[in-house]
Amino acid sequence: MNKSTCLVTGCAGFIGSHLTRSLLDAGYGVVGVDNFFTGYAHNMDGFIDHHRFKFYEASITEKGLLERLKNENPELDAIFQLAAIVSVPYSVEHAELTMEVNFEANARMIASAQRLGISTFVFAGSAAEYGEENRLPVREEYADEATQLSPYGVAKYKSSSLIEKGGFGCSLRFFNIFGPRQDPTSQYSGVISKFVDFGLAGKNMVIFGDGEQTRDFLYVSDVVTSYFIAAGFDKQGRGPLSGVYNVGTGNTTSVRELAVTVARLTAAPDKIIYKQERVGDIKHSCADVSKISASGFKAEISFEKGLEKTIEWAESQQ
Ligand SMILES: NC(=O)c1ccc[n+]([C@@H]2O[C@H](COP(=O)([O-])OP(=O)(O)OC[C@H]3O[C@@H](n4cnc5c(N)ncnc54)[C@H](O)[C@@H]3O)[C@@H](O)[C@H]2O)c1
Repeated sequence: MNKSTCLVTGCAGFIGSHLTRSLLDAGYGVVGVDNFFTGYAHNMDGFIDHHRFKFYEASITEKGLLERLKNENPELDAIFQLAAIVSVPYSVEHAELTMEVNFEANARMIASAQRLGISTFVFAGSAAEYGEENRLPVREEYADEATQLSPYGVAKYKSSSLIEKGGFGCSLRFFNIFGPRQDPTSQYSGVISKFVDFGLAGKNMVIFGDGEQTRDFLYVSDVVTSYFIAAGFDKQGRGPLSGVYNVGTGNTTSVRELAVTVARLTAAPDKIIYKQERVGDIKHSCADVSKISASGFKAEISFEKGLEKTIEWAESQQ
């Protein structure tokens, strides 16, 4: 039987490029969409010429986009919606645009997917949907009582809720993801890519606050595994998931521990500079992963192994 053709939006981004590569390797066709808002053409170097990959430079806000793609790729049957405005501070400054990209475009895509009879829709949700939550680890239903702290969090939550209430598709609420191709140059990028960049450059690492804040860090290949499970592309044969699922490790690492480990692995000076805590920074974050675990998900790459792979990649880019 021929494997499905999947739409991956945000395919030139950090996670989207890993997912696309893995889908192609597993024998799926991929229609990729990106408008290079934060993604890069070079992230697609490994697959742009693949015979089962077709790229469209387009925005997910384009009306009738899915209809156009389905018309030109009738075999398209699964959607991975990763394209988004990903920066929380940017979302605060551009609330309207964030709502348009991170919520309205999703609502439209979901309605079109159902109309077109597409079987699978997987959305990239976020831990930001929980706001500041003191009950740890965080369970999926806590988001319904949460106050999200940014337009980014609000739009992600609205999209996840639409999916949950509508009974079509699923939302994977990712915690802190890291790995190769995460952009360290952006002022908003993840703490790991920044620390690795600093470590390799022999610079001191800067921590905002006391460094005791904790995060649930998940390596990107485990994210790809969760996508395969969500779409029913793993070996279990249970079909696509529906509803909302946390995706993390269920473990935490402090930012100080992260800085010390990166310093050790990059042979950087392990001098850490502490600066004033940033307003709006969440103190602790950890996923309750029992729901996705019941569907067969388990993070396989340890924090240290993931860091080693990320550093190896960053070194290869120098
Ligand atoms: N990286 C994390 O830790 C993390 C955590 C939780 C959720 N997520 C979610 O995962 C998804 C992927 O994030 P990422 O870390 O790979 O970020 P990224 O910035 O590398 O990828 C996002 C991609 O979407 C593209 N894009 C943005 N707006 C678009 C639009 N209107 N039309 C088409 N393409 C558009 C960007 O150009 C980029 O290539 C996002 O939805 C993000 O919110 C990421």
